[in-house]
Amino acid sequence: MATKVTEEPTIIHSPTANLETDLALEFLRVVEEAAIASAKTMGQGDRKHADQVATETMRGVMDSVPMDGTIVIGEGERDEAPMLYIGEKVGKRDGGDNPAVDIAVDPLEGTNLCATGSPGAITVLAASERGGLLHAPDCYMEKIVVGPSCKGVIDLDASVKHNLNVIAKVLGRRVEDLVVIILDRPRHEKLINEVREAGARIRLITDGDLSPGVAASMLGSGVHAVMGAGGAPEGVLTAAAIRCLNGYMVGRLVGYTPEQAERMKDMGISDPKRIYTAEDLAPGKNIIFAATGVTDGALLKGVRFFGDGVRTTSLVMKLNKRKVRFIETIHVDKRSDAKVRIPER
Ligand code: FBP
Repeated sequence: MATKVTEEPTIIHSPTANLETDLALEFLRVVEEAAIASAKTMGQGDRKHADQVATETMRGVMDSVPMDGTIVIGEGERDEAPMLYIGEKVGKRDGGDNPAVDIAVDPLEGTNLCATGSPGAITVLAASERGGLLHAPDCYMEKIVVGPSCKGVIDLDASVKHNLNVIAKVLGRRVEDLVVIILDRPRHEKLINEVREAGARIRLITDGDLSPGVAASMLGSGVHAVMGAGGAPEGVLTAAAIRCLNGYMVGRLVGYTPEQAERMKDMGISDPKRIYTAEDLAPGKNIIFAATGVTDGALLKGVRFFGDGVRTTSLVMKLNKRKVRFIETIHVDKRSDAKVRIPER
């Protein structure tokens, strides 16, 4: 009897399957493919195109994921973004009993970094059971992100000097030995001066404060704190990662323009002074975080194209299972003579 050969093994998804066990590797595929697509535009100087390519690819791959997904943080409102807009339904609509998942995406975090070939661009998403990620308005978030040892010791309303002193004390080092990452923006002039006066070292970044926030939660990253205001959506994604890493952050939503302040009101933010922790921003029990490097960065290597395929480096974390995975994938070219090199050890 002839054996039927199918190109791909059939994966049977049990109706009782849960978000935790099934979806992390699916999300890995989503961020990997988006990273490969956007990395092809690296250095072309066109940030919009880089973002569009990442968004389209992420959207396309997401529809092969067995889930009943809803975008809660995405590329904007329905009327301003063609896809991955807030409220959009994503996932394989195959009538199966797929898990209900809320998803926060940043298809290309650091569009300028990719467009200029600068370090630190990543593709990223976080997922949770319904209601597990704050639907943050598109405003700013003033925040401090630190590692697990500094849990509870920092205070958004305390002086910069005070916070740096307590971080140094807890880490058993001098303030002069701390490295603080800050977005290089005019709004941070006072903050930068205060960090300098306190004596800590600063790494100013042009864009992309999400991956430094994740790095701050890991020992040995050389990042001791991230301070200042970045995007609120990026803040929620950072919080999802921090939950998986036992890090700590405090953040407050800030609307610098009347439109942003209005948007905060519309989205039900009744107390604009509220200070959020990672647990408030990403309260889910089944958080999954997935990111792939587009350009080389402190956290992840960028996409590397070689004759026989593509290499990607990703970070995939699952809160419930306490797993933090750094995954190097070789996407082997379809040619039958393609060769694979053993990764550097
Ligand atoms: P994009 O990926 O949309 O380009 O945003 C990058 C980023 O630098 C974020 O990492 C950061 O949180 C935010 O923009 C800061 O916003 P702004 O450039 O308005 O200061």
